[in-house]
Amino acid sequence: MKATARAHTNIALIKYWGKRNESLILPANSNLSVTLDGFSTETTVHFQEDLKKDIFLLNEQNVEGNDLGKVAVFLDKVRALSGNEIYAQVQSVNHVPTAAGFASSASGLAALAAASAKAIGLSLDDTELSKLARQGSGSACRSIYGGFVEWQMGEREDGADSFAVQVADRSHWDIRIAAVVLSKTMKKVSSREGMRRTVETSPFYAGWLEQIPKDLQEIKQAIADKDFEKMGSIAEANCLRMHATTLGANPPFTYWQDTTMRVMQTVQSLREQGVPAFFTIDAGPNVKVLYLPEDEDKVKKRLHSIEGVDDIIISKPGNGISYL
Ligand code: PMV
Repeated sequence: MKATARAHTNIALIKYWGKRNESLILPANSNLSVTLDGFSTETTVHFQEDLKKDIFLLNEQNVEGNDLGKVAVFLDKVRALSGNEIYAQVQSVNHVPTAAGFASSASGLAALAAASAKAIGLSLDDTELSKLARQGSGSACRSIYGGFVEWQMGEREDGADSFAVQVADRSHWDIRIAAVVLSKTMKKVSSREGMRRTVETSPFYAGWLEQIPKDLQEIKQAIADKDFEKMGSIAEANCLRMHATTLGANPPFTYWQDTTMRVMQTVQSLREQGVPAFFTIDAGPNVKVLYLPEDEDKVKKRLHSIEGVDDIIISKPGNGISYL
């Protein structure tokens, strides 16, 4: 009753921002991401008869409290699915090139879903696994697949049609994604709280939702055509629109810091100099920059010169779930 799985994190090009059902984690909008090869989580789940509770070790450190609670709540779903009331030891290792707050819930929950389902003897196909991972963390449902991935929001209230599908394999398009690590980061509003507050109070939220079908349709075409400028400009505009909703919330908030703005301006100035580069930002201050392999030297040099930037981690489109 033991299995190990590896999952890579992903960055949304069309963001998931807002839930229509909090407990099942059903999104208010369909969304699309690219899986990154630079960041992964490897998780071993071992169900054992003699355990009195779940145990969670992250990077070889014993974890208690809230984070253990999240793992245990997720394992409860796996136990319920299999009909087997047995506790587990979970060992996770985050492979993140620097210790910069980049460990993602997406790779963590996707690896936990895959390893725990396998260890307890459930044989789930990728669609079922995506639905299971979704209930741990929404963005995790996309990390089941490599390359470019769409999370289709579905219509049903039981979540049976809310799961991810692959739009294009990682080998379809050789793009680069630079994760820009800021030297000081202060994440104050979790994605869960940020979404909830925005959905409930921001008058801009309706405008955000209205634009999604058009963005999604156009970005899928841009990916199919390998039209980098089109893909990048849609992703950047979608990111700005998501972050604009937070400014309209009550109380208002933003994930941006001074260095976040400097990175955004640098990317825009690279474009003015003829380098096609675009940014996107999730629920935190770090920025991801999309560019083409031939521009790597120029992009890296400019990003490294920004005050407040600590490190740059380069990814290509990565793989989906694998078992070790
Ligand atoms: O899956 P969560 O709860 O970590 O939320 C992710 C939300 C964003 O990163 C802001 C957008 C996205 O689609 O990943």
